Amino acid sequence: MSEVEKYIKSIPDFPQPGIIFRDVTSVTEDPEGMKLAIDEMDKLLEGVDYDVIAGAESRGFIFGAPLAYKNGKGLVLVRKKGKLPRETVEMSYDLEYGQATIEIHKDSIKPGEKVVLVDDLIATGGTIEAAAKLIESLGGIVVKMVFLIELTDLKGRERLSKYDVASVVQFEGE
Ligand code: PRP
Ligand code: MG
Repeated sequence: MSEVEKYIKSIPDFPQPGIIFRDVTSVTEDPEGMKLAIDEMDKLLEGVDYDVIAGAESRGFIFGAPLAYKNGKGLVLVRKKGKLPRETVEMSYDLEYGQATIEIHKDSIKPGEKVVLVDDLIATGGTIEAAAKLIESLGGIVVKMVFLIELTDLKGRERLSKYDVASVVQFEGE
């Protein structure tokens, strides 16, 4: 397990009783925590052949942007519906309660482009699966999914078994 784990504060009973919230703000607010998080996520990209990074709004942008900068890549924004100005494609997915819709610009991924998807955390995997489907609908190839935190009990990795999933810190229990 990475040293960055010690910067992740665990908040019991948030947002509801019985849930332990793994808080990335406690990582980003600390200069050493932020540096470790980016460096360790970057290590997961070593040897990966890819063209562009795509980050999932909003916490995925925090980590996607420095990784793109560090590796000389562009950053595609996978946004919540209604924010992008040009023509988009969209995908809806299930949340614990209700549904959410995300979208990307239609011209943001070229057919055959190799994409690394980045988010702060994988729980059920629903968000990143929807993002992957969007990229694939444009002909992109998702070559890797990189997370700072993985909640292993929620089995996102199993849901995403056809992808190469990597995370820096794993937690059991929600
Ligand atoms: C959280 C988190 C991941 C997603 C993980 O985002 O940042 O994107 O949930 O859950 P999943 O694997 O079950 O889909 P949230 O939707 O809370 O929005 P935010 O990033 O804008 O805070
Ligand atoms: Mg998110």
